[in-house]
Amino acid sequence: MSLNDLRQKKLRGEKITSITVYDYSFAKVIDKVGFDIILVGDSLGNVILGYDTTIPVSISDMEYHTRAVARGTSRGLLISDMPFMTYSNQSDALTNAGKLMQAGAQMVKLEGGEWLRETILQLTKCGIPVCAHLGLTPQSIHKIGGLKIQGRDKTSAEAILSSAISLEQAGAELLVIECVPLALGKTIAEHLSIPVIGIGAGAYTDGQILVLYDVIGVSPQLPNFSKNFLKESNSISEALVKYTTAVRDGSFPPA
Ligand code: KIV
Repeated sequence: MSLNDLRQKKLRGEKITSITVYDYSFAKVIDKVGFDIILVGDSLGNVILGYDTTIPVSISDMEYHTRAVARGTSRGLLISDMPFMTYSNQSDALTNAGKLMQAGAQMVKLEGGEWLRETILQLTKCGIPVCAHLGLTPQSIHKIGGLKIQGRDKTSAEAILSSAISLEQAGAELLVIECVPLALGKTIAEHLSIPVIGIGAGAYTDGQILVLYDVIGVSPQLPNFSKNFLKESNSISEALVKYTTAVRDGSFPPA
């Protein structure tokens, strides 16, 4: 799955399917199901390593898991998260993004707004495709004051939309938008020509992403926007197929 394929899907109005994955065996299962995007998320800090936040995740953690996932995938676009403070200046961003690309990522994801413009320009100049991540950005949990819905009022919604436009102009080729009201998710997807993938952002983004361990009922606490598809399935593969089908036919998330 190339970025161009994803753009074509957006143009055709076909929903994009995406999920996180952290190891080789699940990567094989997920690849077989046929997800469009596979994210080695720094949520591995929570679900694999047992940290309270994603902040302790290191670049070597991400390289290790990206390598494992890359060995098990051949179809979906493989994105890897740049962890906290590994892209706070352009030189670090280039070095660390290079490490993830060499580990097998095909794109890197960065959390944050306008301040990332120059970094995105530099990374794309060096041939590293960038996925931006706006709305709730878990690496900023202490700044935000908790894992809360973002963009609820007019001013903050306008600020998120303006950052999204600005990061697309800087060269971001995909956007993940997390935990914003449905109307804002819709507006952003309509204003951007790059695909916009939502998580807790309503039914009107160009695609959806969920954390694997939520979908298969392993996470102890399921966020209210997520869904345990294993509850209505007889196997992990069936749960994953049900998730992709529900995204494609528009039944998940509910409008
Ligand atoms: O780290 C992660 O899993 C993510 C997704 C929730 C989008 O960034």
